[in-house]
Amino acid sequence: MTALPATDGRTAPQPAPALALRGAALGFGDRTLWSGLDLTVRPGEFIAVLGPNGSGKSSLLKVLLGLQPLSHGEAEVAGRAVRTGNDRVGYIPQQKLIDPDTTVRGRDMVGFGLDGHRFGVGLRGRRRRRERVYAALAEVGAGAYADRPMGVLSGGEQQRLRVAQALCGDPAVLLCDEPLLSLDLANQQTVARLIDRRRHDAGTAVLFVTHEVNPILPMVDRVLYIVDGRFAVGTPDEVLTSEALTDLYRTPVDVLRVHGRVVVVGAAGAPLDPHCQASPLAPDGSAGRTVTGGTAVPR
Ligand SMILES: Nc1ncnc2c1ncn2[C@@H]1O[C@H](COP(=O)(O)OP(=O)(O)OP(=O)(O)O)[C@@H](O)[C@H]1O
Ligand SMILES: [Mg+2]
Repeated sequence: MTALPATDGRTAPQPAPALALRGAALGFGDRTLWSGLDLTVRPGEFIAVLGPNGSGKSSLLKVLLGLQPLSHGEAEVAGRAVRTGNDRVGYIPQQKLIDPDTTVRGRDMVGFGLDGHRFGVGLRGRRRRRERVYAALAEVGAGAYADRPMGVLSGGEQQRLRVAQALCGDPAVLLCDEPLLSLDLANQQTVARLIDRRRHDAGTAVLFVTHEVNPILPMVDRVLYIVDGRFAVGTPDEVLTSEALTDLYRTPVDVLRVHGRVVVVGAAGAPLDPHCQASPLAPDGSAGRTVTGGTAVPR
């Protein structure tokens, strides 16, 4: 715990950060993905991690999972140096379709999220474990198909089970790598709200990698936006602006707010985001624009 002066002159205890990066850099060979990254995340804080393909978003999560060493600097989770197998960390991986021949049941896969937890041996331990899995399945509405083999489930059903697995272990930090992919709009909302509730109720800090910020915009406290080795950190109102993104992309970018949604518009050919559709020539013959951030869950 660190202490800050309270307004009455006494010191008020502050919770330890859920995660911290200090002077962090990551590179492969002679390529630096990002460097000089200082980020302290409070318990319960919701951080959206944005940036184009290959900017190093998933790699950042791998660092925090202890799977990828930093080139420079330090990374801590819940006050300790990152390490693999940390049961304070929940992880929803960037989606991969599961082999159709996979016979492991959804219920059992969710239970793997509890590996490393101490439920004790015997009937009581087994019962507590079963209850936790049951509750996690109910939270994502996956009870109806939890006993089917993973391989026969749809992409969205598999994804809801991954979310249940990550939440099952009661994590202090939740690392989400594009968790809304392949979910329909209703389930995008279900999953986003579930994660939001978790951070409010249990103080779980969330790092949420996404190419589409609109479905989660009301929940986001701060944005980490990584582009081509550079980054910006701040509230959505600070980072998702024409000025900040023009600076970050080093090319003219307009950020529009349309019916509460963020729409990012860049000059043609600007590599803003994989969802951009480059249009070399607009219908009026003027230079085309690329647009991203166009799809959103209605609020
Ligand atoms: N172990 C590795 N060795 C060499 N290069 C790597 C390694 N891991 C990742 N990279 C490279 O680092 C870059 C960033 O990868 P990363 O997966 O972090 O991108 P991302 O921002 O998550 O992109 P996307 O939006 O496509 O998921 C990529 O160019 C990738 O090829
Ligand atoms: Mg990625």
